[in-house]
Amino acid sequence: GKYRVVSTKPMPGTRWINLLVQNDVRLEICTEKKTILSVEDIIALIGDKCDGVIGQLTEDWGEQLFSTLSKAGGKAFSNMAVGYNNVDVDAANKYGVAVGNTPGVLTETTAELAASLSLAAARRIVEADEFMRAGLYDGWLPHLFVGNLLKGQTVGVIGAGRIGSAYARMMVEGFKMNLIYYDLYQSTRLEKFITAYATFLKASGETPVTWKRAATMDEVLQEADIISLHPVLDKTTYHLVNKERLAKMKKEAILINCSRGPVIDEAALVEHLKQNPMFRVGLDVFEEEPYMKPGLAELKNAIVVPHIASASKWTREGMATLAALNVLGKIKGYPVWFDANRVEPFLNENAQPPA
Ligand code: GLV
Ligand code: GLV
Repeated sequence: GKYRVVSTKPMPGTRWINLLVQNDVRLEICTEKKTILSVEDIIALIGDKCDGVIGQLTEDWGEQLFSTLSKAGGKAFSNMAVGYNNVDVDAANKYGVAVGNTPGVLTETTAELAASLSLAAARRIVEADEFMRAGLYDGWLPHLFVGNLLKGQTVGVIGAGRIGSAYARMMVEGFKMNLIYYDLYQSTRLEKFITAYATFLKASGETPVTWKRAATMDEVLQEADIISLHPVLDKTTYHLVNKERLAKMKKEAILINCSRGPVIDEAALVEHLKQNPMFRVGLDVFEEEPYMKPGLAELKNAIVVPHIASASKWTREGMATLAALNVLGKIKGYPVWFDANRVEPFLNENAQPPA
């Protein structure tokens, strides 16, 4: 291998490995047992010569790592994730390292988990499962685990990008919910889809679904019965859902987060869940992973899963392949990637090595 590439974790599938080793790459896969690698661990992995790194969202890719990678001759870094709040793209730019992420391949998988959590929360599936396993079921009762009927209710989507739009379509088409969404950009494709679906429902004698693009986020919080968060995490979305905003939501609303933990003020959420037992939440991500804020784990009105929204075999292999292609493409100067879904080959396309 002419080029040395490091992957900080073993990743699913073999396609990504073959891609690299068949293209002049000597690949090193870190098999360190501990889950989260420190900056020091990664500096050791980079060593004296390293052309590119495939890294994970649990790692802190800042000034220190990009300067180390640049000194080792590195030109490319890819996160195996669509989210890149763990990557300081300005620092990467400064050291001439191109940064890639893995959009597109995880859109439906992630939206499906958000939909799963929505249904699980609406129908209290986790509580009911615990009840059953605890041997507490002693016969059918009219009021046992009564939940929410989604049909005709309103689903609210904050951030109608790829994932948010896919989720919105699932909930509207699958469960005949009305949509209210908030995004800085208009989602014309989503609006067209719902309009066409409404026409279809009307023609079949059913109540048509409706959609609305909200002028403010608070409008969504006030009107929706289920709210799913799909923004990117940055300075503008940190604690987007705080104490005041939670207070604006319906007392029996359901809140879903499959984006990034810090989008919600988790301590305020725990307090809100305690005060409002009919309010339910489905969380895939947490403010300080892998930890949960005290009290959260004890609450019956919270469903918690360990950051698995993109965890389908197809998607994880796709993410690994995309991450490998990102790094390989940059090293070899290929025109990057071929998937029409892939709208952002590199987050900082024009990064130049320092003079
Ligand atoms: C996972 O959280 C991702 O951003 O891909
Ligand atoms: C990320 O893929 C998004 O745009 O939702």
